[in-house]
This record gives sequence, C-alpha cells and structure tokens, in this order.
Amino acid sequence: MATNRTFTMIKPDAVAAGNIGAIIDQITKSGFKLVALKYTYLTAEKSGQFYAVHKERPFYNDLVGFMSSGPIVAAILEKDNAIEDFRKLIGATDPTKAEAGTIRNLFAKSIDANAIHGSDSDENAEIEGSFFFSAFEKF
Ligand code: RTP
Ligand code: MG
Repeated sequence: MATNRTFTMIKPDAVAAGNIGAIIDQITKSGFKLVALKYTYLTAEKSGQFYAVHKERPFYNDLVGFMSSGPIVAAILEKDNAIEDFRKLIGATDPTKAEAGTIRNLFAKSIDANAIHGSDSDENAEIEGSFFFSAFEKF
C-alpha cells in the first residue's frame, strides 16, 4: 500500500557540517511537504530509546553515541508513497554504495555518520514521528 508520511532526522554530522539548508532544499524540491520540523538534541538515554529496535546489533552502542553527539533536525514529511520514495532519495545506508545524487551520496561521511535517517515502514514512521512531535504539532 502506498503511504503518505515518513519521518526523518538530519544527523549530527550533517548538522555540524552546515548542511541543514541544502538537505531540506533537496527534500522539498523532491516533492516532500514539511508537516513538522524541529532543531533538537537526543540525550544518550533518548537516543538509546529511539534505536531500541537495534539493541542486539553490534553497531548499537556506536549508533546511540553518535546520534547523541550533537544537535539534529527531526521532521515529518508528506508525499504519495512517502516511505519508499524517501528511502530512494536518501540512498543506501553505506554512502560508498549510495547512488549518485542521493542525500547520502552527497552529504554522508561514513556508514555511521551517514547524514540522514528515513523510516523503513508506515508503522515505524508513526512511532518515530510521535517520539518527537505531539498530535497538536502535526498539521
Ligand atoms: P536509518 O535507520 O538511520 O535511516 O538507516 P538505515 O535504515 O539505512 O539503516 P539501519 O539498518 O536502520 O541502521 C541504522 C543506522 O545504524 C548504522 N549502521 N551501522 N556498521 C554497520 O554495519 C551499520 N549498520 C547500520 C547506520 O548509521 C544506520 O543509519
Ligand atoms: Mg533504519
């Protein structure tokens, strides 16, 4: 089923590199509408909660540490087929494998510092969006 909302975070590496504007520009020019937007910070505890699905994975501690290493930008985005289209726009997890022109190809430094997050399912988009935004904030 086509979905119309996804959740994203611009990760600490891309925020620190000054790429918030360029990334949001690419997202909106690709047809995604901003439904909610926040410049914020994940404490180590919140980062651990957000990535709890990856708790058993070998990269969990590095991921949690990295995501709490500096400010991030969280957003809810709207577009037909949002989940799939946004995953295409951001490219592969490992930037060396990300297609030319994708956000990770253009802005990611490594598999850990990979610039951006995109939800992988409708269900996770709802859970992740609700982690940062209340129903009142979503228009
Ligand atoms: P994301 O959730 O951030 O959009 O990334 P993703 O779906 O492409 O990748 P996922 O499997 O959900 O992993 C979450 C994040 O963990 C780091 N990772 N490192 N060293 C590794 O093998 C490895 N695998 C994943 C990445 O930073 C990835 O974005
Ligand atoms: Mg993921």
